[in-house]
Amino acid sequence: MTSLYSRFCNSSIGRKWIVALTGLALIAYVIGHMIGNLQIFMGRERINAYAETLHSMGPLLWAVRAFLLAAFVVHIVVTIQLTAENRRARPERYSVKEERRAGAASKSMIISGLIVLSFVVYHLLHFTTNTTNPEFKVLEDAKGRHDVYAMVIHGFQNPLVAWFYITGMFLLCLHLSHGFQSFLQTIGANSKKTAPVFDAGSRLLAWFIFAGYTAIPAAVLLHLLHT
Ligand code: HEM
Repeated sequence: MTSLYSRFCNSSIGRKWIVALTGLALIAYVIGHMIGNLQIFMGRERINAYAETLHSMGPLLWAVRAFLLAAFVVHIVVTIQLTAENRRARPERYSVKEERRAGAASKSMIISGLIVLSFVVYHLLHFTTNTTNPEFKVLEDAKGRHDVYAMVIHGFQNPLVAWFYITGMFLLCLHLSHGFQSFLQTIGANSKKTAPVFDAGSRLLAWFIFAGYTAIPAAVLLHLLHT
C-alpha cells in the first residue's frame, strides 16, 4: 500500500493529479471566499456577523486553515518538481514551436503563481493579522464585534492598496484560467471537440471570479461603499 502510494506520488501522472486536486481545493476556497466577501454589499451588519460566525467555529476553522495551507504548499512544491522534470525530459516528439508555447505557458504559470503567493502573504498581513495596519485591530461595531466592514473599506481607501489587490486578482485569474484547462487535461476530459468549450468555460469562470473580487475595491474607489 505504502509503495503503491509512493509510486503514485513519484510518477509524473500522479504528480499532475496532486497539482490538479490541490488546485481544485484552492479554487473552491477562492469561490467560497468571494461569495462570503460579496456580503459586504449587504451592509455592515451582514459582513460583520458572517466574520464572527467564521471566527466562532474554533477548531473547525483551524482545521480548514491547516488543510488550505497544506494544499497551498503541496500545490507549489509538486508544481516545481513537475516543471524541473519537464525541463529534463524535453520530449523530442514536440515541434520547436509547440515546445516554445508549452514553455511560455508554464513560465507564465510560475510567474503568476509567485505573484499570487506574494499577494496572499500581503493579504494575510493586511486583513488577517493586521500587521501592516495595526489600527484595524481595534475597529469595533456597535455590537462590540470586529468591524470587518470598516476594515475592508479603510483598507481600499488607499488607492495604491486597492490597485495592488486588483492587479493581484487579475494575475490570480490568469493563473486560474490556465489552471482549469490543465486540470481538465489531467483528468482526461479534454478532447479536440470539448477543448474549445472547456477553454471558453475556464476563461468565463476566471473572469467571473475576477469581477466578483474586484467589485469590492472598485466600489470603494468609486465611493459606492463607504463607512
Ligand atoms: C477584494 C478581495 C478580497 C477581500 C475584500 C478579502 C477579504 C478578506 C478578509 C476581510 C479576511 C479576514 C477575515 C477575518 O479574519 O475576519 C480575509 C482572509 C483571507 N483571505 Fe481574503 N479577501 C480578498 C481576496 C482574497 C483572495 C483573492 C484570496 C486567495 C487567493 C484570499 C485569501 C484569503 C485567506 C487565505 C484568508 C485567511 C482566512 C483565515 O483567516 O482563515 N483573499 N480576506
